[in-house]
Amino acid sequence: MASVTKSKYNVYTGHLDKIMRLAVVSDLHSRRGMDVGGIIDILKEESPDLILMPGDIFERLDGKNTEGKSAGFELIRRSAQIAPVFYSVGNHENGGVRSWDKLKWSRIKSIPKYYDKGEVDRIRECGAVFLDDGYVIENGIAIGGLSSGLINEGRAPELAWLDGFCNLDIPKILLCHHPECYKKYLKDRNIDLIVSGHAHGGQWRIFGRGVFAPGQGIFPQYTSGVYHNKLVVSRGLKPSGRIPRIFNDPEVVMIEMK
Ligand SMILES: [Fe+2]
Repeated sequence: MASVTKSKYNVYTGHLDKIMRLAVVSDLHSRRGMDVGGIIDILKEESPDLILMPGDIFERLDGKNTEGKSAGFELIRRSAQIAPVFYSVGNHENGGVRSWDKLKWSRIKSIPKYYDKGEVDRIRECGAVFLDDGYVIENGIAIGGLSSGLINEGRAPELAWLDGFCNLDIPKILLCHHPECYKKYLKDRNIDLIVSGHAHGGQWRIFGRGVFAPGQGIFPQYTSGVYHNKLVVSRGLKPSGRIPRIFNDPEVVMIEMK
């Protein structure tokens, strides 16, 4: 696997007594033969308080191609030995575009879950808290996962549960795979920090800007870094493939939240 870099950002919420250190590990797109050692080395070195995985750790979560998933499960298992891990659903875990085309999802009223329950159990067995349109409270902090997997196919995320989450009178961190949800659904909500991935940094970066991201198009707005002291977007961990990454190394993001 190409060398993984480390990016560090600060977010000031005014709601914490002491600094929390959060690692964001996103968009691995686990494939056969991947080595996650470099990611684990960074996590050990940084020793974060929490590790956040906002989706697409796996290419698919459909109960098939077990061999291709071993790197993803290894990453979760070894991460959970370093700090508590929180995992939310990306578009790839929720079936990806092609499967949904076949299902003609637009006629389905409520969004069915497309992932394999056995593989979700395995994520949990590896030590992660699996957040699928829900939240948990960990040491006085609420950590939620918005399953925005179908947003690029024109479906709004499930927002009903989010109202209860936003009304909690404690600091709140939301994992939401798609940064394009931010502007429309999340920007004005009472959430201290939103963590996203999906855009892969815009794949090629020119003059510090991404070139293309699915769901955001050409010269996308949210691809890397901190926006409005509220949204942090990871460039993800998938190495160069058929389409190379240019000026855009895979990264582990570290956030100091105060
Ligand atoms: Fe994605």
